[in-house]
Amino acid sequence: MSFTIWFTGLSGSGKTTLSRLLFRELKCRSLKAELLDGDIIRTNFSQELGFTKKDRDINVRRIGFVSYLLAKNDVISVVAAIAPYRETREQNRKLIDSYVEVHCNCPLETAERRDVKGLYARARAGEIPNFTGISDPYEEPVAPEIVVNTDKESVSESLGKILCYLEEKGFVPMAHECQMIPFTEDDEFQWKNDLARLGFARAVGPGRSK
Ligand code: ADX
Repeated sequence: MSFTIWFTGLSGSGKTTLSRLLFRELKCRSLKAELLDGDIIRTNFSQELGFTKKDRDINVRRIGFVSYLLAKNDVISVVAAIAPYRETREQNRKLIDSYVEVHCNCPLETAERRDVKGLYARARAGEIPNFTGISDPYEEPVAPEIVVNTDKESVSESLGKILCYLEEKGFVPMAHECQMIPFTEDDEFQWKNDLARLGFARAVGPGRSK
């Protein structure tokens, strides 16, 4: 059964980590899925957009529309994008049939302390305008299907919570009911290298560059 699962939350709240692990698990269970990560979408699909409310809304609606198209073709979308505005997220919820919202809940102080990409420091220094949580709003979800408290739970606890929900709701078959296929790091990075060959995003990670 196809569905869209959207990880929303502050930068550094764990969206990319959890979405990638979930995507990998879905592929291992022989399910058709695509991963739509905000950073990658912005590099290849929304290059012209910045971070004003108008541009973010266009970006988030665009991702929602792609998810809708994928869903029509029985492909699961795993989305990791901040999507800071409630109303825009709700528009996507209306558009997409089976929409599961995961709030990656993490206090700003924790996300800022992690500062994985060094962006918070730059935002505090005034180098990045409209930075979510610093100089731009993040409207927390009111009734998300799942909340993961990434400051308190381990990554596997959060992932377990998400998988339990998806299994319980019948979105995803239990592991023992699936034909399990191994998913290697090479598979994971192959598509990035394919894109790089075509002149899109720079290849990242341990995959082989050609
Ligand atoms: S959204 O608001 O349109 O949903 P999206 O998830 O695509 O945002 O992009 C967020 C990513 O862009 C962050 O993970 C971060 O790497 C980068 N980024 C650059 N500038 C900003 C900014 N002003 N606010 C938030 N993220 C930013």
